[in-house]
Amino acid sequence: MAAPNKLAPTSAPVHELIRQRWSPRAFDPRPVEAEKLRSLFEAARWAASAYNDQPWSFIVATKGDPENFQRVLECFVEFNQTWTRHAPAIALSVARLKFQHNGQPNRHAFHDVGQAAANLALQATALGLQIHQMAGIHPDKAREVFAVPPDHEVVAGIALGYPGDPASLPDQLRERELAPRQRKPLAQFVYTGKWGQPASVAEA
Ligand SMILES: Cc1cc2nc3c(=O)[nH]c(=O)nc-3n(C[C@H](O)[C@H](O)[C@H](O)COP(=O)(O)O)c2cc1C
Repeated sequence: MAAPNKLAPTSAPVHELIRQRWSPRAFDPRPVEAEKLRSLFEAARWAASAYNDQPWSFIVATKGDPENFQRVLECFVEFNQTWTRHAPAIALSVARLKFQHNGQPNRHAFHDVGQAAANLALQATALGLQIHQMAGIHPDKAREVFAVPPDHEVVAGIALGYPGDPASLPDQLRERELAPRQRKPLAQFVYTGKWGQPASVAEA
């Protein structure tokens, strides 16, 4: 079985890359080329951020570096370890919580790390790769293992690679891998005038 068709069934035209991005759990074992990996982080680098503070960092490890791969893997919760252990590359994203220029709290640090991750995800899709982000991590363990400094917080895990064969997954995960993708309708989150009142552009 090849990687499934996970094209987003959108309610309005969107860029092809947005339609094609999705979060696989089955990855092809083939390694990600170093130049492609570099392009992913270059894409993250060019994300917008408050005060251009660029509060993101990434700790990355590939299967070719088994010791570091294991160190990142152990920072994921057990469920996420079951499928990410087969990904060719895994990573952690980290936010710096204070602005570099004045040391004040950056209320948008996580927002900007998310933007960098979104850039990374779309660049991955453009290169035939996909990423799968994870909240299911042990941030305190990651802080300890990688000596993440104070005023930083570990945000999310990331698995990445070429999408693989869903048949490689256990039954329950395979079902989820093959399930249609779902989203709330626009009217449930695009408002006008007052909270909860759908904007006209959101109406079908
Ligand atoms: C911040 C974040 C945390 C997530 N945490 C997990 C996780 O711990 N485990 C997991 O299997 N998927 C996780 N996901 C994947 C989401 O479930 C997935 O993005 C969502 O179902 C939409 O699917 P799509 O990305 O294929 O469109 C996470 C995604 C994001 C962005």
